[in-house]
Amino acid sequence: MYKQVVTALSFASLVFGQQVGTVTAETHPSLPIEVCTAPGSCTKESTTAVLDANWRWAHVTDGYTNCYTGSEWNATACPDGKTCAANCAIDGAEYEKTYGISTPEAGALRLNFITKNDNGANVGSRVYLMASESKYRMFNLLNKEFTMDVDVSNLPCGLNGAVYFSEMDEDGGMSRFEGNKAGAKYGTGYCDAQCPKDIKFINGEANVEGWGGSDGNSGTGNVGTCCAEMDIWEANLDATAYTPHPCSVTEQTKCEGVDCGDGDDRYAGVCDKDGCDFNSFRLGNQDFYGPAKTVDTSKPFTLVTQFHTADGTDTGALQSIKRFYVQDGTVIPNSETVVEGVDATNEITDEFCAQQKTAFGDNNYFKTQGGLAAMGKSLEKMVLVLSIWDDHAVSMNWLDSNFPTDADPTAPGVARGRCDPEAGLPETVEAAHPDAYVVYSNIKVGAIDSTYAASA
Ligand SMILES: *[C@@H]1O[C@H](CO)[C@@H](O)[C@H](O)[C@H]1NC(C)=O
Repeated sequence: MYKQVVTALSFASLVFGQQVGTVTAETHPSLPIEVCTAPGSCTKESTTAVLDANWRWAHVTDGYTNCYTGSEWNATACPDGKTCAANCAIDGAEYEKTYGISTPEAGALRLNFITKNDNGANVGSRVYLMASESKYRMFNLLNKEFTMDVDVSNLPCGLNGAVYFSEMDEDGGMSRFEGNKAGAKYGTGYCDAQCPKDIKFINGEANVEGWGGSDGNSGTGNVGTCCAEMDIWEANLDATAYTPHPCSVTEQTKCEGVDCGDGDDRYAGVCDKDGCDFNSFRLGNQDFYGPAKTVDTSKPFTLVTQFHTADGTDTGALQSIKRFYVQDGTVIPNSETVVEGVDATNEITDEFCAQQKTAFGDNNYFKTQGGLAAMGKSLEKMVLVLSIWDDHAVSMNWLDSNFPTDADPTAPGVARGRCDPEAGLPETVEAAHPDAYVVYSNIKVGAIDSTYAASA
């Protein structure tokens, strides 16, 4: 993603912690995937999904008292980060009832935007794929492809149905950080290339110091959590981008100060926050993606993302990231770029990134952070993230509208989609589209050209 994900929670009573609570049993929804070696030659894996820790109810371990209310920590339970992690427990989740997360059919995951519940309303969610009760499913994507079906037909402007890989610890950080007793089973250990600071517990400690509420239902603390991120899919009905974000850190890493890359430090942090995005609209083809466009977003389709290495081996240097779509049995290659100064291409390479950054006047921090080669090293050990979110920072304008908002929309690189810049204001989109949702299904990973086919 381009800007920080804000965990938008409206629970007045929702609180957070890192011990394990026992009020609600944690039962991971089933989300099986397939692993393929050749077309038609796939084996099923009994994977499940787990809700991120930040969304969970937590309480002092020996009772029901909140550790965090509104956007403030309970100073008694949480005088500092270590004590807070020792005092507070995160609990199991009622996936559908509380968070609007369901599995409508085998191999499909539906994430609802807003879910009214006993506590008020939940906004958005983020889940990870699990290999077992306590371990995330690790992916090595080099010389492989990743394929899934998406239904964005009920995901309007201003929303983002995001599917991506983050370089998180397999156990959620439980073995590296003694303060973390909950682990992957409870969705701990998140990180991404925005080095988010809205995460309540990082490295087994609460993010208490410097915590300030941004808008009444979330906040940010002094520390962030950074790691490389490969955005397979950031999209809604009207816009889409796929984006590698390399980092100079090679595993989930807590950041403070300049390293987090906030504000004026954007091009001094440990991660490439901008990434090198391929957005068909931004790159000159405005008729490729959207309702009734070449890829018709009013109905489901398959998306394929391939990670090609220079030498064609699973350990080679990442050389290009290719995208295909499949809809109604037809394989649709990604759109070709039509931008002055950018050679016509439909894949991400270091050369494409350099040309795009120059053409759009953007800082090539992607290159500074090691470009595709660095991204490729991270791709050897990634965790799959599936989410739905709205954007409290910049209204998703970087994805589906004009951005920067005050720039001339006819200037190269500014227009990214057809959406009204106001449509993505959280209060607007939450009021106008509470029933929005996204469905992800038929997740497959495997050898190049093994997971999809055209059909007659
Ligand atoms: C804060 O936590 C303590 C227990 O650690 C509890 O006694 C107190 O009621 C809590 N305060 C609030 C405002 O929830």
